[in-house]
Amino acid sequence: MSIDHAPETATAAASGSNATQRFTSDKQFAASTSPERVSTLARQVLSAVHDTIREHGVTYDEYNALKAWLINVGQDGEWPLFLDVWVEHVIEEVASESREGSKGTIEGPYYVPAAPELGHDAVLPTREGEQGTPLLFQGRVTDTSGQGLGGAVIEIWHADSDGFYSQFAPGIPEWNLRGTVTSDADGHFRIRTMRPAPYQIPTDGACGKLISAAGWHPWRPAHLHLKVAASGHQQITTQLYFPGDAHNDDDVADAVKPELILDPRDVDGGQEVTYDFVLDSTTSAQKA
Ligand code: DHB
Ligand code: FE
Repeated sequence: MSIDHAPETATAAASGSNATQRFTSDKQFAASTSPERVSTLARQVLSAVHDTIREHGVTYDEYNALKAWLINVGQDGEWPLFLDVWVEHVIEEVASESREGSKGTIEGPYYVPAAPELGHDAVLPTREGEQGTPLLFQGRVTDTSGQGLGGAVIEIWHADSDGFYSQFAPGIPEWNLRGTVTSDADGHFRIRTMRPAPYQIPTDGACGKLISAAGWHPWRPAHLHLKVAASGHQQITTQLYFPGDAHNDDDVADAVKPELILDPRDVDGGQEVTYDFVLDSTTSAQKA
């Protein structure tokens, strides 16, 4: 199972603390939430907790186990992981309710901005002897009327054939399987990469403890992550999946949608797939 480049020492605490560090250094917070709204949201979340306790007769032992577990989520740096796996898909659902163009889904914890720029006919950086099935992923970025969008920026990142992400698992070159691709004048792009493997969220930290205590599983189906942006249009953050993956119907992060499953075909030396992205204009009805 393990091959020479597999990061033997990948741990939940290491990738969790990388994800926490990234989140706190890369993201800008601009929420201008009024005190009334904060109060409404906080009260409703707390009421849901109180109702759960009453309904199930939660004991002091269970309360203390929860307290210890919450402390561990922070100590393991796993808040980004916890939130992106069990909460983000509903945030995304609400955020994209009024969009007409391509479906999006969760970003997850492993996006890194400013990956190398690779033009419109791109080869993602790989290691010598990178394992897996070569994949040619190509398509076109258009607006909702089908007009090609030239100069659209397609950021792509994904796990390797062992399910590990560069910059979060040790021993992988910085920009491995990450790139920034720009569509040509007609909106077309081509990306050569290697098919990612199904991904297991780290099981040796607090999130893994919850999964095993609840009898759940830690798997996400294999996926490509993408952000697609063009000026005057709404950016989409999405993931694309492969048909036949056992976890497409059973994703721990609930982030699969039928529209996001690719239809690759076998070709000499690998697979090829076409997928087009449709972007809504920024002037189309947006939620306040
Ligand atoms: C997580 C990892 C992913 O690769 C992803 O797409 C979503 C969530 C996670 O470990 O939280
Ligand atoms: Fe992922």
